[in-house]
Amino acid sequence: MKQRMRSSARLLAAAAFACVLSAGALNAGALEAGVLKPGEPDNHSPDIPADVAAKMIDPELAQSDFVEQCAGCHGVRGSSIPAHLPELKDRVGYFMCTPESRAYLLRLPNVAHSRLTDNAQLADLMNYVVFVLGGKSAPPGAKPFTAEEVAHERQFPLTSGSLTGERMRLAKDAIRKCGAPQSLRLQYLGSPQ
Ligand code: HEC
Repeated sequence: MKQRMRSSARLLAAAAFACVLSAGALNAGALEAGVLKPGEPDNHSPDIPADVAAKMIDPELAQSDFVEQCAGCHGVRGSSIPAHLPELKDRVGYFMCTPESRAYLLRLPNVAHSRLTDNAQLADLMNYVVFVLGGKSAPPGAKPFTAEEVAHERQFPLTSGSLTGERMRLAKDAIRKCGAPQSLRLQYLGSPQ
């Protein structure tokens, strides 16, 4: 499994590099799909709104941690199209819906096993993910992650075996209770699950 993750990370890094080279073509494709606004650059980190920055200890560090540790797979804006990975952009915040779905975000293998040992720093990174990349998808009034919450949940990492079923159950909850779109059932557009 580790091996597979590593080689897929290499593949994705290569794909990301190819995307940079063909940024023009990618932008055209994204425009057609209505994902980007005309002229919006695809390869720069988004601005952090002041009200969101207020939820974090060090917003700039959170952004650079995301770019270093996660963007190779998920893209600097949380969108990995055309790679087949869960879309974070404008939707990951729906998982702030219930205590269990919040926990899911912290129990993801790449999050729980992050090389960040400082739980406050990892909480900041995850607040960046849900409140900046997730746009307006977090339910109104959703509380930011705390160091204590991260420290607790990361002790219970999900395995690749338990992840898919758990995700589906929580996505259905978010659809029912927090107005998430039906498409949250899918990890990405065209996903088989
Ligand atoms: C090697 C590529 C890779 C890296 C690096 C990576 N992820 Fe992921 N991420 C995935 C994959 C693949 C999934 C789908 C679930 C799974 O198989 O783990 C996923 C799922 C997720 C999800 C769940 C989204 C959903 O809709 O269910 C979130 C949130 C997430 N990752 C955040 C992060 C964060 C934050 C980091 C950096 C600390 C990170 N990921 C690093 C590949 C990666």
